[in-house]
Amino acid sequence: MTTHTIMPPDFAVLPEMPADVFTAPLQKPAHVGADWLEPAQTRYSSDEDAIWNDLFARQMEVLPGRAASAFLRGLETLNLDRGGVPDFGELSAELVQLTGWSVVPVPMLIPDHVFFWHLANRRFPAGNFIRTRETFDYIQEPDVFHDVFGHVPMLTDPVYADYMQEYGKAGWKAMRYNRLKALGALYWYTVEFGLIEEADGIKAYGAGILSGPTEVVYAVEAASPNRIMLNVDRVMRTDYVISDLQPTYFVIESFEDLYRQTVERDFDRLYRSLGPAFTYANSAVIDVDNVLNRGTQEYLLRGGRGSGARPV
Ligand SMILES: [Fe+2]
Repeated sequence: MTTHTIMPPDFAVLPEMPADVFTAPLQKPAHVGADWLEPAQTRYSSDEDAIWNDLFARQMEVLPGRAASAFLRGLETLNLDRGGVPDFGELSAELVQLTGWSVVPVPMLIPDHVFFWHLANRRFPAGNFIRTRETFDYIQEPDVFHDVFGHVPMLTDPVYADYMQEYGKAGWKAMRYNRLKALGALYWYTVEFGLIEEADGIKAYGAGILSGPTEVVYAVEAASPNRIMLNVDRVMRTDYVISDLQPTYFVIESFEDLYRQTVERDFDRLYRSLGPAFTYANSAVIDVDNVLNRGTQEYLLRGGRGSGARPV
């Protein structure tokens, strides 16, 4: 049997979205172009800068000892505690020197193919707004605090920075095969909710964990969730939870290992073998898993978010 391999496009220009691919219909605001970039970063008020500072201070109460050392180093290198929402121009000038990445403002969630294209060009799209006091604890759309505090420090790590670019390139291929859902699971379980094994224990490097106060403690220390060594093939077949704490976290041994597992994977072959739906439930432990902790799942069995269950 012959199977042809889809060649990647030249990422210098925005690749055309294949006509047969379904992605969420997003209404593009009139003031942004095809690249979805805002003409300028928002000028934040002193009240909004104070929200950033308070969110920052709250995270620093829980992150030491639980956040990956690469993340904590990145926070320090980029001086993200300089006070107020960071200026993307200044931030990018420093980041470009370190790993060639920049941070660019976008109005909201942007279409997948545009997001992948920016990553493939080492541009990280970040929200151009900040949450309010009313939505201080939880917002659905990623704001500048989630995007910059949660994601940008990791982009100072050269290997992780390469991984993010490879992910962007892989995104285009996932669209051609209509397997965005599977690639989305990889993003979810690494970039948003990834854990890493360090010499003194398991730490968090995922932005979804690091930008909020509850999940950091739960992901690293609670008895409820499973913690399983990452296997890219397995992760891409695994369902996940969007609006509650995760039943399962996947752990990498190093960023080199994450990068290697991703670039060595034959995605053409993988996408051809994947069905359109996930194979494994989000709490499943399967035969091939290298399990670090098998979770009790107590938190979710007691009803999870909204039930008042403690994240134990
Ligand atoms: Fe995110």
